[in-house]
Amino acid sequence: MVLHKHQRYTWVYKMQPPTNLISEAYSVLDANDRASYTQPAAELYPHQWLWDSCFIAIGLRHRDPERAQNEILSLLRGQWQNGMLPNIIFSPEPHYERDRNLWRSWINPEAPEEVATTAITQPPMLAEAVVKVGEKLAPPERREWYRKVYPALLKYHQWMYTERDPHGEGLVLQIHPWEVGMDNTPPWMAELHEHQLNWWIRAAKKTQADRVIDLFRRDTRKVPSKQRFDTIEALAMFDIQRRLRRKVYDIRRILDHSLFAVEDVAFNAILIRNNEQLRTIASVIKETLPEQLIENMKKTVIAFEQLWDPFSANYFSRDFITHKLFKETAVGTMLGLYAGTIPKEHALSLVHQLSDKHSYGSKFPVPSVPLNSAWFKADNYWQGPTWVNINWLIIDGLKRYGFIEEAAKLRETTLGMVTSYGCSEYFNPTDGHALGTPNFSWTAALAIDLSLNPIN
Ligand code: GLC
Repeated sequence: MVLHKHQRYTWVYKMQPPTNLISEAYSVLDANDRASYTQPAAELYPHQWLWDSCFIAIGLRHRDPERAQNEILSLLRGQWQNGMLPNIIFSPEPHYERDRNLWRSWINPEAPEEVATTAITQPPMLAEAVVKVGEKLAPPERREWYRKVYPALLKYHQWMYTERDPHGEGLVLQIHPWEVGMDNTPPWMAELHEHQLNWWIRAAKKTQADRVIDLFRRDTRKVPSKQRFDTIEALAMFDIQRRLRRKVYDIRRILDHSLFAVEDVAFNAILIRNNEQLRTIASVIKETLPEQLIENMKKTVIAFEQLWDPFSANYFSRDFITHKLFKETAVGTMLGLYAGTIPKEHALSLVHQLSDKHSYGSKFPVPSVPLNSAWFKADNYWQGPTWVNINWLIIDGLKRYGFIEEAAKLRETTLGMVTSYGCSEYFNPTDGHALGTPNFSWTAALAIDLSLNPIN
């Protein structure tokens, strides 16, 4: 549906989402379908990504629950012996050898034999996706579905606590910005610039060698470079990855050498909700979760409040060792709503920020960084643009807290943006226009899900 510019902004509250949004979104998913899994976007993201496939399954379930189940089952191929689910399972095609070799997951004995993967994870959205797909199945099939995935899911959640909460604090730690899925989000980037840049990256910065390196980047060949993270940051990401590989991806050795270790606010908020969904699954199939895991789950809910900063009324990520809060504001704070366990008054203050025109209340919300932050850049990846997966998580949280009007409004603006500007990877939060790669799978999948779930 092509709308005239002046119609675009008024459309959002007046009409139901057009049915051709749904059919367009399905055609994006069909084009990215690789039989057993869906690519996030052809060419730019050719492999299978963990949280992408979870969001994709949430959309696919409406048309074909079996295909949605397969999307999830194919993620489990990548599970490590110790329970970790990697953020990427690499395509076996010969021309992606470079990607597989960069990680060499096989150097760690816990890695699976059949597939090459990364050695880091991504936000744990799996239990949510399993439940959402289960909602589309009749009770006997649902139980069968839950029984099939439960062992792997349980192992994943246990892994997060045994490997990633070594001090038993309740908060799990992340060792690479890619684990958070919001690659260049300011709190992590500020930390990166302050402590993590190696001498040779600093030298590259000084000599402007980054301009040369830029020529070799795959992403900036597909998407304008001002919409991606800068080359110094990209180099630093690969450098952290290289340092993890040198420690054979062994978490004890990694932590002994004080590499990046952050208790990320968004990751832990998502964990809280997904712990809850894991409980739902267990109770439907009458399984008892291990005592220790239940204890840990309770601890996370309590420890999450240590991330609250009363002065700025925000949740922040913190350093694993020093517990210093990273006080750069970013949309991760809003996922406290999705966690669903934060006190109502904290939820209310997040809601105020969502509607504040100087903060997150832009015309096409929710910006990944508030408009009044020094980091805000309307076109740059996770430093300003609006992402549909984040909106979906916030909408879900708003609904469960009873902020129905706010949830309905955000659903409408999100669908309006996708209808007007297509299933893009991300969007300019002030004028709504498309950014990143077009035909992005999770935007399509979640637009379908939002369209088919009106908020009353
Ligand atoms: C980018 C995003 C990440 C996503 C991946 C594949 O790296 O930051 O969240 O999973 O692309 O779409």
